Amino acid sequence: MQQGQDRVFAGIRCTGRQHIGNYLGAIQNFVALQDKYECVYSIVDLHSLTTLTDTEELQDNVRETALDLLASGIRPEETILYAQSHVPEISELHLLLSMVTPIGRLMNVPTFKEKAKAQPENVNYGLVGYPVLQTADIVLYRANKVPVGEDQLPHLELAREIVRRFNNIFGDTFPEPEAELTSAPMVLGFDNRKMSKSYGNSLDMAATPEETFQAIRTAITDPQRVRRNDPGRPEVCNVYTLHGFFGPENQPKINSACRSAEIGCVDCKKMLSESVNDYFGPIRARREELSANPEAVDEILIDGARRARVIASEVLADVKDAVGLPASLPEMANVNA
Ligand code: TRP
Repeated sequence: MQQGQDRVFAGIRCTGRQHIGNYLGAIQNFVALQDKYECVYSIVDLHSLTTLTDTEELQDNVRETALDLLASGIRPEETILYAQSHVPEISELHLLLSMVTPIGRLMNVPTFKEKAKAQPENVNYGLVGYPVLQTADIVLYRANKVPVGEDQLPHLELAREIVRRFNNIFGDTFPEPEAELTSAPMVLGFDNRKMSKSYGNSLDMAATPEETFQAIRTAITDPQRVRRNDPGRPEVCNVYTLHGFFGPENQPKINSACRSAEIGCVDCKKMLSESVNDYFGPIRARREELSANPEAVDEILIDGARRARVIASEVLADVKDAVGLPASLPEMANVNA
């Protein structure tokens, strides 16, 4: 491992194609971390089962997510990229960690309360245990750095508590994972709410140029700019903010041309679409190449899972030993002899 014993772990939800907010907020950072650390990235399909009952598209979504990550520059020869359900050790560790997790603590996690409200007909056991599974994800590789956005801090805090409790009871087994807060911008969608697939206000990284313009066209701009001749206020306009991410060099001229009503919002959106298309052009081309060979992508995930399991099975053996459970099947065979 590089830089002492540092290991990065991140879980990525497999909601299908990733949107440009996911890219700016997370994926870009996952790619950059590879230069400094050993990285393990898991596409968390088991976590999806806490909110999904229709799982028909789940494995396709895992592949779509893998494509976006690989096209963005995740290097599978160095980095371990895999699907969570391919590493069964996670379930055993999840169970063992559940024994040191106070239920009251789980019931107070903000994401649990939100989800319980959003799906009152399906407040399942797995949903309550979501942060325990997330903790198991991380410590199954004894990862100590976890790149997350602010919304994940309560989960990370709980992960640290679970680790401390486990270490206290059973002896020092895991490092306490630390959040690597990404200085990622909060990217707003085209309706000015947080960009999210579930709000239908997002743009997929992998969109075509035409889809890109059609999505950006719907974006809310300055609400006071009703007519083409009205002067605009870039400081309240999300389209202007998005220019800052994808074509910052255009911002000064757009700023003045918007204020003087020299350009209209449609012009401005066309320019943004071009910048976004230029920005994602090489990534989209790589994605196209990769998706022409789905078996190769599956093989990358399987190879990732293999390498993940080498670490995971060692850690799990240590954990079972710490808890006082027999470590492996051969020893159990002796018990029955
Ligand atoms: N809960 C995270 C999210 O909603 C995904 C996740 C699962 C994760 N396991 C993780 C993130 C482990 C970091 C570490 O985005």
